[in-house]
Amino acid sequence: MKNKLLILLAIVFMAPLASKADEGMWLLNMMERMNYKDMQKCGVKLTAEQIYSINNSSLKDAIGWFSNGCTSEIVSDQGLVLTNHHCGYDAIAGLSTAKDNILDNGFWAKSKAEERPAPGVTLALVVAIKDITNEVMDSIKGMDAATVNKNLNRIYRTITKRATEGNHYEAQCRQMFNGNAYYLFTFERFSDVRLVGTPPQNIGKYGGDTDNWMWPRHTGDFSVFRVYSDKDGKPAPYSADNIPYKPKSHLKVTTSGVKTGDYAMIMGFPGRTDRYMFSQGVKMATDYKNPTIVKLRDIRLKAWKAEMNKDTDVRLSLASDYASVANYWKYFDGEAAQLKNNKVADIKRKQESKFGKWAKDKDEYKTVLGDVEKAYTEYTPTSNQYWYWREGIIAPTIAKLAYYASLLADAEEAGNEARVKGLKSALGKIVEEMPYGEAVVRADKIIMSGILKTYNADNKVEDQPKWFRDNIEAYKADNFDAGIDAFVATAFESSIFADKDMAMAWFKNPRMALIKNDIMYQYIQAFKTNYDTKFKAKRDEFNEKEQELSRLYIKGLIEQNPKTNYYPDANSSMRLTYGKVKPYMNYKVMTYLDGVIEKNKKFGDNPEFSLPQNLIDAYNNKDFGNYTDKTGKVPVCFLTDNDITGGNSGSPVMDAKGRLIGLAFDGNWEAMSGNISYNAKNQRTIVVDIRYVLWIMDKLGGATNLIDEMKIDNTKI
Ligand code: ARG
Repeated sequence: MKNKLLILLAIVFMAPLASKADEGMWLLNMMERMNYKDMQKCGVKLTAEQIYSINNSSLKDAIGWFSNGCTSEIVSDQGLVLTNHHCGYDAIAGLSTAKDNILDNGFWAKSKAEERPAPGVTLALVVAIKDITNEVMDSIKGMDAATVNKNLNRIYRTITKRATEGNHYEAQCRQMFNGNAYYLFTFERFSDVRLVGTPPQNIGKYGGDTDNWMWPRHTGDFSVFRVYSDKDGKPAPYSADNIPYKPKSHLKVTTSGVKTGDYAMIMGFPGRTDRYMFSQGVKMATDYKNPTIVKLRDIRLKAWKAEMNKDTDVRLSLASDYASVANYWKYFDGEAAQLKNNKVADIKRKQESKFGKWAKDKDEYKTVLGDVEKAYTEYTPTSNQYWYWREGIIAPTIAKLAYYASLLADAEEAGNEARVKGLKSALGKIVEEMPYGEAVVRADKIIMSGILKTYNADNKVEDQPKWFRDNIEAYKADNFDAGIDAFVATAFESSIFADKDMAMAWFKNPRMALIKNDIMYQYIQAFKTNYDTKFKAKRDEFNEKEQELSRLYIKGLIEQNPKTNYYPDANSSMRLTYGKVKPYMNYKVMTYLDGVIEKNKKFGDNPEFSLPQNLIDAYNNKDFGNYTDKTGKVPVCFLTDNDITGGNSGSPVMDAKGRLIGLAFDGNWEAMSGNISYNAKNQRTIVVDIRYVLWIMDKLGGATNLIDEMKIDNTKI
């Protein structure tokens, strides 16, 4: 047994020295007051003003929100941008065909003229961050939670309208601490973004779904873009006349390398965390939500994969959808496993019990925990209905098309012309881009059958739509599953949503009369009405209650622990996290090119571990350039204890001087419960080392033009 006294002594003596680094996704405008001293203790050499400044250019001006889902950083004075390969994936796959296959083969523009417009990709830079809590609180004074929910968007609109009047900015209001604070973020959004370079996906996605969310890792998860502006430096739609954007600030790059204990910080746009979740929410995730999502996604992935393996064009057309469904399929599986493994419900219960003791004589808080228990007890048993609808009933492409059509048809019936117009253009585009050729249709039939059989097996007859039961029974098949197969066959024979051209024609001229009797329109109506009448009200009521209880809980926690610095949950707003380069368990902190080669030799039959020949050749020829560390090896990935989540993908990992040392691209398996509870012991950020990025650009891509464009700064810290 370990010596408890020694451990205790160590903790006591270490406490004054230890910094509070690692956990926390901090708001930039609070950083100077809340974190900066601690950051200095950790080793930062920049002033607070150099990191975030209201008036002068600072690091924050180099960080871009990439297509609203990832993070990217500007690395030259000509708008050159780095992000993850998996963030550029959709654009790269979209530009690929079997003949011009840049997803598989990679691509490097040798001049600006060769860069490829990437439609749909946008880059938004933060112009201003403002605390608007007082204004919002004044506007909602005296309202109960339900009324607040009804009015919040209107209040937000007033504020964003004011912030964007007379300028070309975009504005967003965000709730912090579940409604205890409100913030306004103003952006400048660029939409002429071009692909400059990408490694082949067997580097950019090396290890595939097998290695995803895992360490040790050997993925070159980066891609390169460039932002263009009009000649005045303002955002403009794509035009051949646009010029490379001249940023207010860009990151320098350093190839000096990192070692355990070095300062590391990340700025980016983390998407969503639930760090203040109640213990009952953990149970809902492990026992209901997560296994359901995993089970339903599994059906889609298997059917798609079978078709993707047969044909390159099919594989390319489904690649992006497959990757994003698979990414969170594995995520939800890992999250459930680690919530249990890391005993997160117990951690939450302990915190709740402390809170309960503190709150018991405080009128504002004393009923919170009892009300939470009651709300969860009532809602949990039917909570899965929402996931069956979202991840099941409308997941087959044929159903998705019918669902979109139903939105449009309903708007048409209601005579809401503005909504019809908006939906028509938005949905028309989505439908046009949907992969839905013969092979995808083939997979879709299997998906729909599989999902409906699972739905039937998991749900009581009285919870299912009567229309669905009657319809299946009408086939008088041997059993219900055979009836489902017959139903699906009929749907694909008779519905206009089984055919892309027919569906597109309808979206161009959407008339309710044309789909009223369509079997898939009826399917959507039946399932939606069933969900709306039996389950939706419960969900809405629960969400409202939970939100309000959680607002009170966080408010109480902050009151209860006045010395603790709390940070708000991630909500896609810009944040900073700082800490150190740090290994965990018995793992080494860094992986090397040798490891890439080793995995290829060991798992070479698995296409996820295939490698481009030029990488193998360069390795054999020891063509490593200046991209090695002291051991003479090329570093590939390393670990930090920074606190990130999805949305941070592509974020710059910066050293004490704010120089780029790598790109964050993943988290590790042992801490998959991290969105709900930060695990200080085992939670790590997985980073692709900038030296691997540059080595690939230089030695495999021959893109020395880009290396020259970036500033490499190897001065001592
Ligand atoms: N797990 C990563 C994230 O969500 C994405 C990794 C992409 N790679 C992959 N093999 N799917 O940030």
